[in-house]
Amino acid sequence: MGIELEGKVAIVTGAARGIGKGMATALLKAGAAVAITDIRQETLNETSAEFDKIEGARHLALMADGTKDEEVNDAVRKTVDAFGRIDVLINNAQSAVTGINIEDQTVADVMNGIDTGFLASFRYMKACFPFLKEAQGTVVNFASQAGLLGNVGMVGYNAAKEANRALTRTAAREWAQYNITVNCIIPGMLTEGSKEFFDANPEHYKHSLANIPLGRLGDPENDAGALVVFLASEGAHYLTGDTFNIDGGRCMRP
Ligand SMILES: NC(=O)c1ccc[n+]([C@@H]2O[C@H](COP(=O)([O-])OP(=O)(O)OC[C@H]3O[C@@H](n4cnc5c(N)ncnc54)[C@H](O)[C@@H]3O)[C@@H](O)[C@H]2O)c1
Repeated sequence: MGIELEGKVAIVTGAARGIGKGMATALLKAGAAVAITDIRQETLNETSAEFDKIEGARHLALMADGTKDEEVNDAVRKTVDAFGRIDVLINNAQSAVTGINIEDQTVADVMNGIDTGFLASFRYMKACFPFLKEAQGTVVNFASQAGLLGNVGMVGYNAAKEANRALTRTAAREWAQYNITVNCIIPGMLTEGSKEFFDANPEHYKHSLANIPLGRLGDPENDAGALVVFLASEGAHYLTGDTFNIDGGRCMRP
């Protein structure tokens, strides 16, 4: 897409697969050095081997659980040791308990969504703050249509995603004085996970497509990746505190 991120360093959490992998690929191809984290060792190794084949790409693959303070701090330290700075933090990792309505959810079920999503984003933002301040960098957090619409059976996920939007706005105001920008993305992408689900539920796939004005799900690298490459660029530095739907128009608002 023509944006050059040479000299910039990014962390993308939960990037062994899915949207995280697509965004990391786009950032690497734009010239950024990228640290990817995940908790799936095998998938992380496979992705790391793929990244090794991108010409000139500099990456670091780190096993780091976003629910553990010491693993988050360690991942941030290793990134700075390897690449010297942090310009871009992308809080993409998330897991959740789904398919259970509120009356049957436990506190532990809800905490799974909150801890892997909202609190992990908070931990990474705290750990990266000194480096983001130095670099006048940017943070991208993740929300979801499910949180906006209140999808059933996934209260912990929905709460975590909406909490990320509050975290985004709060940090955007608090860190504006340091020229750190903070935004949120709501993606609608075709990933390995969503593909498996749609293969098993073809009617659901048809229904989803019918509700997307552009008539297709997004591509993790070429759509979500292109957006974060832009958000990481100098041209995006007057954007902060906002939520960007990148979903083919599905959740467009007035
Ligand atoms: N797929 C979509 O269209 C869609 C829609 C709305 C929101 N989102 C959001 O976009 C982001 C990526 O979605 P995806 O579909 O690629 O998800 P995914 O489940 O395919 O990938 C998430 C990755 O995060 C990792 N992860 C989970 N818990 C972790 C932890 N504690 N520490 C480190 N890594 C952890 C997983 O191992 C996995 O590799 C998520 O925040 C998701 O909520 C996705």
